[in-house]
Amino acid sequence: MLPYRIGFGEDAHRLEGGRPLILGGVEIEDAPRGAVAHSDGDAVLHAVADALLSAVALGDIGQYFPDTSEENRDLDSRVILARCLTLVRERGYVPANVALVVTLDRPKLGSRRTEIARRVAELLGLAFSEVGVSFKTSEGLAPDHVQVRVTVLLTRVQGDDA
Ligand code: C5P
Ligand code: MG
Repeated sequence: MLPYRIGFGEDAHRLEGGRPLILGGVEIEDAPRGAVAHSDGDAVLHAVADALLSAVALGDIGQYFPDTSEENRDLDSRVILARCLTLVRERGYVPANVALVVTLDRPKLGSRRTEIARRVAELLGLAFSEVGVSFKTSEGLAPDHVQVRVTVLLTRVQGDDA
């Protein structure tokens, strides 16, 4: 069993008026547009969940929560993340730290950095200082979507010598 596993996840959603923009479980109230999605469209939590699965080579969230299923309509992404965390723990690993990058032209998100990092940390059982949150614009190249990229490092569960 490897002492560490690294995972990478990505997610993007189209932006449209009249939808909420939720990033890492935090609603961005001043966003003029939100994510079009089958679930709640939280691209941060989707990308984190995919990064967790990728670290233990379990595929991606679409296998566990198909976007063709009515059951998953408007699904709270925290449910998706909790399931992925359980799958990772069952394989003997826990998150050690996470780094995420949100690409979004508007609005500027700097004032929400602490809140997003705290929320993601809480959901993953990490300290605030173990969640890096960066923001980038697309420089106008992709103004109609939000994109998130995430790396995660897993360590073995303490006391698990399997
Ligand atoms: O994309 P660019 O490098 O021009 O972004 C400049 C800075 O603006 C970023 O380093 C980040 O601090 C901030 N930013 C932000 N919210 C965004 C996009 C960028 O706070 N949605
Ligand atoms: Mg998504």
